[in-house]
Amino acid sequence: MPYAHITGWGMSIPQKVLTNDDLSKMVETSDQWIQEMTGIRERHIAGESDTSASLGADACFKALKMAGLTPDDVDLIICSTSSPEHIFPATACLIQDQLGASKAGAFDLSAACSGFIYALQTGSQSIKVGDAKVVLVIGAETLSRFVDWTDRNTCILFGDGAGAFVLQASEQPGGIQKGVIHSDGSGGDYLTIPAGGSAHPTSEATLHSGKHFIHMNGKEVFRFATRVLVQSTHEVLAKTGWKVEELKMIIPHQANKRIIDAAARGLNLPIEQFYINLDKYGNTSTASIPIAAVEAAKNKKINPGDKLVFVGFGAGLTWGALAVEWSGPINKPFEKHYITADWYKPWAMIRRIFKRILRMIDSFLFDR
Ligand code: COA
Repeated sequence: MPYAHITGWGMSIPQKVLTNDDLSKMVETSDQWIQEMTGIRERHIAGESDTSASLGADACFKALKMAGLTPDDVDLIICSTSSPEHIFPATACLIQDQLGASKAGAFDLSAACSGFIYALQTGSQSIKVGDAKVVLVIGAETLSRFVDWTDRNTCILFGDGAGAFVLQASEQPGGIQKGVIHSDGSGGDYLTIPAGGSAHPTSEATLHSGKHFIHMNGKEVFRFATRVLVQSTHEVLAKTGWKVEELKMIIPHQANKRIIDAAARGLNLPIEQFYINLDKYGNTSTASIPIAAVEAAKNKKINPGDKLVFVGFGAGLTWGALAVEWSGPINKPFEKHYITADWYKPWAMIRRIFKRILRMIDSFLFDR
């Protein structure tokens, strides 16, 4: 059975920064309160031309370039997002088009802030059963578009961004090991965007009552999060047969520093063993784990061969953890291709225009 290695990674963060001081001019809050209660200093907010797909595609180009692959090599694209561009088509299909990944299947996965754990597990299983050799797993969010900027309970928390991993099949042991995923829909109303789906379709009433914004019971989510981070880390370690002392680092979902502090106490590990960058990005939901991993790798906090746990929780309720042996590129850059992923950006654009023109000609001829 092949192993699923993480051989490339990339992230994409919108330029616009929103600081706590900026927020204190919009709602009754302060930099001190936000930092003390969450650890967040600032977050990045999508610009007009940024979307979940554009950020996701940018992260993918970077990840493919690192892996020494091109979009043509990709068999499957899984985009985890809670801020998709549309109900359908899937944001993963828009990313497929922007990449020009002509032979890839593509679908979205919705598991809120735990989504990247779910998506990595699903992608690695496609590789392990032999259905795919190269999988792109993306966490992409523009949740700022669903935030009520008058609600100080939620608007201080969320930020935008995307991260992507290339998973690649190899007979060499390593890569993504065991995973655990869980859900409890009875807590679904703790964190929700109530309207816009089939339960409450968009209407004047849903618009006026603010039901298209994020609604959250912060206290309940906090209690749930501190419990499941420790529980699922223990569970995945037991399943993998690793001891907590063997771990180089835990990369948790970046929601709140106090939640991570509580997990460190619960696992009896120093806080330095948790990678934390929520101070700069806020809670980027499903993108937070890949963004943290990309930064940790860049800062040499994690290196090939290191044993890691990725652990997340979120709306649903959902939670889960993955045991991972960190890898790195298998192909040497340019070994396989003389054309790198960068070259595919203009090519994908031409291909997109060309395919649309072909479709127009086709429908014109057919209609006649
Ligand atoms: N600025 C200043 N004061 C604020 C505030 C803000 N942004 N938000 C709430 N407050 C005030 C409240 O009005 C309340 O004041 P009162 O005691 O005078 O009534 C006080 O602070 C405590 O409010 P409460 O809502 O009980 O705070 P909390 O201790 O639950 O902390 C969160 C709020 C949001 C920081 C915390 O609940 C949390 O982080 N929860 C988890 C959220 C999360 O991670 N969600 C994503 C999961 S993927």
